Amino acid sequence: DAAEKQGYEHFMLKEIHEQPRAVADTLLGRLDADGRVTLDRLDFDPALLRALDKVYIVACGTSHHAGMVAKYATEHWAKIGVEAEIASEFRYRDPILTKQTLVVAISQSGETADTIAAAEYARAQGARVIAVTNIVGSTLARTADGVIFTRAGLEVAVASTKAFTTQIIALSVLALFLAQERRQMFAEECRDMLDRLEALPALMERVLEAEEGMAELAARFSGADYFMFIGRQVGLPIALEGALKLKEISYIHAEGFASGEMKHGPIALIDDGGPVIALATDGHVKAKVVSNIQEVKARGAVVLAVATEGDTEVKEHADHVVYVPDVHELLYPVLTVLPLQLLGYHIAVALDRDVDQPRNLAKTVTVE
Ligand code: AGP
Repeated sequence: DAAEKQGYEHFMLKEIHEQPRAVADTLLGRLDADGRVTLDRLDFDPALLRALDKVYIVACGTSHHAGMVAKYATEHWAKIGVEAEIASEFRYRDPILTKQTLVVAISQSGETADTIAAAEYARAQGARVIAVTNIVGSTLARTADGVIFTRAGLEVAVASTKAFTTQIIALSVLALFLAQERRQMFAEECRDMLDRLEALPALMERVLEAEEGMAELAARFSGADYFMFIGRQVGLPIALEGALKLKEISYIHAEGFASGEMKHGPIALIDDGGPVIALATDGHVKAKVVSNIQEVKARGAVVLAVATEGDTEVKEHADHVVYVPDVHELLYPVLTVLPLQLLGYHIAVALDRDVDQPRNLAKTVTVE
């Protein structure tokens, strides 16, 4: 056990630090000899993707949050409507599925019962299914019409970390593939975006150097009994993921909100000293998040913001700021989630929780 942890106290911390390497592996060989983006397997004519009417992304838990992140890039690059859905809800309504519908099923294990059932349901209605999974021989990988592997390596901790960031990367490759096949992006544009993805591992290393600071903040915040995470656009799924990470391993109640929704209810929860974690990196929604930070500050919240290196505005309003390098707006999630994983981890350690095996949870949920 100790040897497997390679000097780390927990598998979760080891896996957090493995992310730059894992993301680099996800990206290996994604261009074919003709310079075109490729998946690991596709059993149907990619020309069919030109006539798509809709994309549904189905997944559970952290994988669902990766799907939410992918919605933005897929709509923006491939110019197709995308809904990111919780797999356990998908087949209990009447989703409109045709032969022109693409369903992307994301599952680290490839064995999550609800995700497999959602994919099967979609296939039975004639839709095509592409799997995004970490496990080559998994049920999902074997039954889908196409697959892209995340190549994250074995993830032992129940709390998913490297599976999440590699899913976002694999889904970005898939979005570029769709953009290419649908002729919405030129080959050079796809390659430029792949270059930007390939630059991420080195930037992730830099963010992970902030661990000590996150451990100090965790010690400060570990007495709180409620955390709020707020974000907009790609910051929203990261707010949801930060809250999920914290609650599953520390057992502290945490919730993520679209920051624009605060005034419609959640802001009533704010009282003196309550921690609010805000995703406030550069982009077209930053000014709005900054104004949301001011609103919660005015009501007594203590704000920890995640902002872009070089930013001077966010620190005027937040109590603590952790910085991530400047990247394309749609690529921030793989950087901004890192300090939130570290925060959750160090709070759980400070509270002496069973970090790798949290109560009531299984690594893979194979029953409904
Ligand atoms: C996250 O930390 C989880 N433990 C959980 O939400 C997980 O992501 C979910 O159960 C989905 O698993 P899968 O990716 O193997 O399908």
